[in-house]
Amino acid sequence: MEGAALTRRGLLVGIGAVGGAGAMYAAMGALGLAPSRQETRFAPPQPSDFSLRGKAAAKVVIVGAGVAGLTVAYELGKAGYDCTLLEAGTRAGGRNLTLRGGDRLVEADGPAQDVRFGEGVYFNAGPGRIAPWMVTMDYCRELGIPIETFVNNNAQAYVHTNGQTVRARTARADLYGYVAELLAKATNTGALNRKLTKDDQERLLEFLRRFGDLGPKLDYEGSTRRGFTKYPALDTGTPIASPGSLHEVLAAATGRAITNDFGYDQATPMFQPVGGMDAIVTKLVEAVGRDRITTGAKVTKITNLPDGVEVTWDGGQIKADYCVATLPPHLMARIPHNLGESVTAALKTPVPVASGKIGLEYGRRWWELEDRIYGGVTETDLDITHIWYPSHGYHSERGVLVGYYNTEQNAELYGALTPEDRRRRALTQGRKIHGDRYGKGLLSSVSIAWERQEHIQGGWVRWPAFDSSFTLLQRPSGRVYFAGDWLTHLIAWQAGALESARSAVTQLHQRVLQNP
Ligand code: PHE
Repeated sequence: MEGAALTRRGLLVGIGAVGGAGAMYAAMGALGLAPSRQETRFAPPQPSDFSLRGKAAAKVVIVGAGVAGLTVAYELGKAGYDCTLLEAGTRAGGRNLTLRGGDRLVEADGPAQDVRFGEGVYFNAGPGRIAPWMVTMDYCRELGIPIETFVNNNAQAYVHTNGQTVRARTARADLYGYVAELLAKATNTGALNRKLTKDDQERLLEFLRRFGDLGPKLDYEGSTRRGFTKYPALDTGTPIASPGSLHEVLAAATGRAITNDFGYDQATPMFQPVGGMDAIVTKLVEAVGRDRITTGAKVTKITNLPDGVEVTWDGGQIKADYCVATLPPHLMARIPHNLGESVTAALKTPVPVASGKIGLEYGRRWWELEDRIYGGVTETDLDITHIWYPSHGYHSERGVLVGYYNTEQNAELYGALTPEDRRRRALTQGRKIHGDRYGKGLLSSVSIAWERQEHIQGGWVRWPAFDSSFTLLQRPSGRVYFAGDWLTHLIAWQAGALESARSAVTQLHQRVLQNP
């Protein structure tokens, strides 16, 4: 046994020395020594992978130049694959879209909007925040994209529910306070004796006192955590008037708003690229080579051949060894192909979800100067759902608020309006929170309804169930691979597109290394 292991190790070291880590890794796979898929870290294809095998990088046509398509080309390009990207739209990036002054946003069956933002002002119309555990961070590092904090949770932002506006810190203090009081009193009166030992009860009470800032008799009677109308300075300041009753606090229904960032994908800190999310697109396009991308190329047919794949678009036809289709499933389902009916049925399974945002540009950052809100999100139960304050450019002259960011029915409602009516409605709603200043000093605005973007037709998709359709499309169909956030459990995140691209690249590259 020991001798055999040594021999294997010697062989692998030799292969590694000649062929590099990729070749060694492939050899380990052949010997059954590679770690399982789960624990495998992504190994980008590299030219040396081919040296021992006498194989060459293949020709790959990629349909769609969004984040998934660009990443497939970027990773395959590291090993010298000959990639061509066909993009139906006028620009690369897909839903990764940052709008600036001079841009023009065209909508299917809608008027074009000219973006009139001032110098240096931008609006991330698609993805806007990145969680630190996401692979998106690794691409930012690798591509040399500087990042900064995205303020996803701001105690100073507002919560607007049931017609009332309070600071997030106030809503939290009250809800935590009363919940702590109830639980503390239940514990103290012995209602939880069957669940808790005496020691447990003491430990729990100790925590609840802190959690709710409870008084000596375990009452919640308000707390400086709620905030001040005048913050302490030389004097003790003026705390916000005492909280409403437990009944009033529950009736305010702030629970959803104050737990928004509890999720593993929304917890603070989050991040954004400096200068706009599209830095990711710019850098990927640079790395891939702009000349590899044909825009305005609408694919009309995809045909698996015995020895390759043929992709037809409105401007020509291309034959390649493999195809990676990264367009949204509901659009791919409508393109004639010979991949079989089960593939079409699977592509039709995920349901597109509408999503929209409006960028409101102001000539004065009144939310900083008057509300003292620097970044973060106001949560509402209005149809605008959220207001985002910019996490960059603090104290500069102009700034862009996200005046609504909604999905499903609320997004459909706004999407169906003209850009002017969207703005009017967003301002009417925002005034309920910020008062008259919300309508004043507005310089310009632009709104996007993702379901109305001709070559995307949705903010993202929802799978009724992650069933066999989902797993079917995670594997190639003949020589056609699929990729996109919609093929992961990270839907509506660029990380999903990136992870999916890596999976398609790994599968395709292994196949090329193994097959003639
Ligand atoms: N990634 C998007 C966002 O952060 C959509 C999303 C929201 C996805 C919440 C999952 C959870 O707004």
